[in-house]
Amino acid sequence: MDATTRPLVNYQLIRWHLIAASAALLLSMTAGFEYSLQFLGFYPHPDSPIVSPGHMRLIHTNMAAYGWLVNGFTGMLYFVIPRLTGERVWSDGIGKLIFWTWQAILLAALGGYLFDRAQAIEWGETPTGFRPGTFEPNWIPVDLLVVVGAVLLIVQMMVPLYRARQRQYYVSLWYFTSGLVWLALTYLMGTILPEWVLPGAAGAAVTGLFIHDLVGLYVTPMGWGLMYFFVPLILGRPIWSHSLSIIGFWALAFFYPLGGVHHFLISPIPDYVEFGAITTTIAIEVVVTTVVVNFFMTLRGRFSALRTSMAIRWFYAGAVMYFITCLQCSFQVTWMFQKIIHFTDWVVGHAHMIMYGTFTFWMFGVIDWLWPRIVRKEWYSNSLRSWHFWLSTVGIAVMFTDLTIAGLIHGFMQRELNDWMDIVDASIPFWWVRSFAGGLMLTGLLCGLYNMWMTARRGAEYREELHLIPANAD
Ligand code: HEM
Repeated sequence: MDATTRPLVNYQLIRWHLIAASAALLLSMTAGFEYSLQFLGFYPHPDSPIVSPGHMRLIHTNMAAYGWLVNGFTGMLYFVIPRLTGERVWSDGIGKLIFWTWQAILLAALGGYLFDRAQAIEWGETPTGFRPGTFEPNWIPVDLLVVVGAVLLIVQMMVPLYRARQRQYYVSLWYFTSGLVWLALTYLMGTILPEWVLPGAAGAAVTGLFIHDLVGLYVTPMGWGLMYFFVPLILGRPIWSHSLSIIGFWALAFFYPLGGVHHFLISPIPDYVEFGAITTTIAIEVVVTTVVVNFFMTLRGRFSALRTSMAIRWFYAGAVMYFITCLQCSFQVTWMFQKIIHFTDWVVGHAHMIMYGTFTFWMFGVIDWLWPRIVRKEWYSNSLRSWHFWLSTVGIAVMFTDLTIAGLIHGFMQRELNDWMDIVDASIPFWWVRSFAGGLMLTGLLCGLYNMWMTARRGAEYREELHLIPANAD
């Protein structure tokens, strides 16, 4: 096929990335579920040094981040960027190279976690490939390969933007471009500086920036950019306020990078740096409110879409959880709250609500809308779609509430200098509930994946007219 007949959107690349993302999510959630059993004394491989609980935790968090989110977002960008610019991505061949390079990076990272080559940086455990602080090789240099992969991806996605430079960029494109550039910079900063250049508390401060910026400067712009594209598209109306979306963009870019130290409050990091992080974190909550207001105002007069469109249901359930998590964040970032909740399950509840309840929900919504169009088949089972949604929603609601209460009990007991084992005993019932909730989420995911598989194999022929939301919906 020559350049002129090449279709605008390469559906094969989207399909590959979404399949790889789904497999990584299944692996991540299975590892998370198994790890949660360790808290109950029922870990399934107690004697294996390779699939030990510590390794499972790394697989859980890293496969969620790099396997699920990065693969999934990349697949979705292959749809959205050509649609918004009217231009193709740079090259289909480079697309295949990026896809396989990324999966090889994931496998090398997995091998590194299983065979003790992980780097001691939270969410940056991907192996550097060198013995700590030296240039003596001890594994595949995954960190550097990640940056090479990110640069290829940036070029791949920037070419259509460059070709469309005479036209006005819609806000989603602002988010995607900056998110990709920030990804490469954040990754370099977080995985290289603390290990080689900045020891001690300074390195810890950078690690805090890294964890935070990965979520705030990559996952958030991708998530918001996708929502600014898919919500208006599916509802068939423009976003309520374009100005608000631009304010949101600049405020994110300005405030977010300064907040990272809030992961290390009440630590040896100087107080003025901590105060800076607290203030900007609270400022960012105001920005989040603009986004949430924009989304809900766009839904005005179309509330019935929550019933008729499964994608819209995922999006808005995710937006509600987004608002709750961000509100929670503006309280938990204060020293007053930190004195209680630091190092407790409260934080774990918060992490799941944002990564699963919001960003994963948004991605499930996009997949719900995209999958039939990619495989050109109608969904195999609507009831499996519903099961996926409700098991996930009930699962995350239970997990969040449970871990929040567990965190408070732990925090207050710790303040009163209770014996550590008494705190563990008090937490065990909550850890049972966490595993139960995780079981619901995992079952929901299995329903969703089975439905995707059966849709591709047995679904009825795709009909666009079945998916239109009437203008006078309410
Ligand atoms: C079957 C569902 C899940 C279960 C049972 C589960 C369980 C767990 C467990 C036991 C931990 C370790 C907590 C600790 O060290 O105290 C954890 C951490 C984490 N999980 Fe999950 N998880 C699930 C799904 C997910 C998903 C889908 C994501 C993201 C998309 C996710 C993101 C995270 C993150 C970011 C952490 C680190 C939290 C922190 O260090 O504060 N989890 N999870």
